[in-house]
Amino acid sequence: MIYESVIEQLSRRGIDSPRLEARMLIAAVKNLEPSQVSRDTELSNQELQRLEQYLQRRLAHEPIDKILGQKEFYKYQFFVSSNVLSPRCDTELLLETVLDLVRKKCFSRVLELGVGSGCVLLSLLKEVEHLEGVGVDISPKALEICAKNAERLAVEKRCQLLCQSWTNTDLIHTISQKFDLVFSNPPYIVSADIHQLEPEVKNFDPLVALDGGKDGLDCYRQIAGFAPELLNDCGYIVLEIGKGQAQDVRTIFESQSFRHINTFKDLSEIERVLVFQKA
Ligand SMILES: C[S@@+](CC[C@H](N)C(=O)[O-])C[C@H]1O[C@@H](n2cnc3c(N)ncnc32)[C@H](O)[C@@H]1O
Repeated sequence: MIYESVIEQLSRRGIDSPRLEARMLIAAVKNLEPSQVSRDTELSNQELQRLEQYLQRRLAHEPIDKILGQKEFYKYQFFVSSNVLSPRCDTELLLETVLDLVRKKCFSRVLELGVGSGCVLLSLLKEVEHLEGVGVDISPKALEICAKNAERLAVEKRCQLLCQSWTNTDLIHTISQKFDLVFSNPPYIVSADIHQLEPEVKNFDPLVALDGGKDGLDCYRQIAGFAPELLNDCGYIVLEIGKGQAQDVRTIFESQSFRHINTFKDLSEIERVLVFQKA
């Protein structure tokens, strides 16, 4: 009965997958797998109270992964919090592109700009034994989550985390080494469009992970400005981009003597990942 009631409340609030989410919430309070939850699942008073708290948060449009504190990305579970962008399935394309390059070219060290929860860099380190990675982020709280995820995936010894802004010219001196591969999923939403995003995003993902400035391209201009100094000759930079940004981002990087190598589309046929090589 409680199961049906949760489904109905979620559904009335316009939540997309009310059945799945009801199972996830009940499973979390009972410490079960969602597939083990049914309409006959019984809850103690204490479990009911916890479920009610979770449900109220979800009805206020907090994303389920932020309520439960973790989200699956690629093959792994990542801790998440209000301080990190919830990993997106579109970003698996960035990971797959980078993974392919690392394997084909046998790279041994990579750099991620804006590592956030670590879903991309840490999955990469988990997949490629012996690969070492540096992750930079402006947010100390995001890096705390990233460090927890690195331990969870047992890759912490191969992962260096730096709390710095890439707009800080000291970054290049702090890192002091060059890479064959740099990648980033930077903030790329046009500032004035943020209020139109769904509440799950605009109210619960950190603004610093979303806001790409007046035309959404600020971070690409910043990264294109200093990336040549972080890359070895012929090194690669791989970028996730927002819908409709491919041509502008190409122009920005080509004007900094990068050569466009490839564009990959996501499952909705949107140009989502660009690959450049330092000329
Ligand atoms: C879109 S999120 C991507 C997070 C993660 N890499 C992912 O793909 O889920 C962008 C990240 O860039 C970080 N960031 C934004 N501006 C930055 C800056 N100037 N310097 C360093 N990191 C920055 C944010 O804190 C955020 O974690």
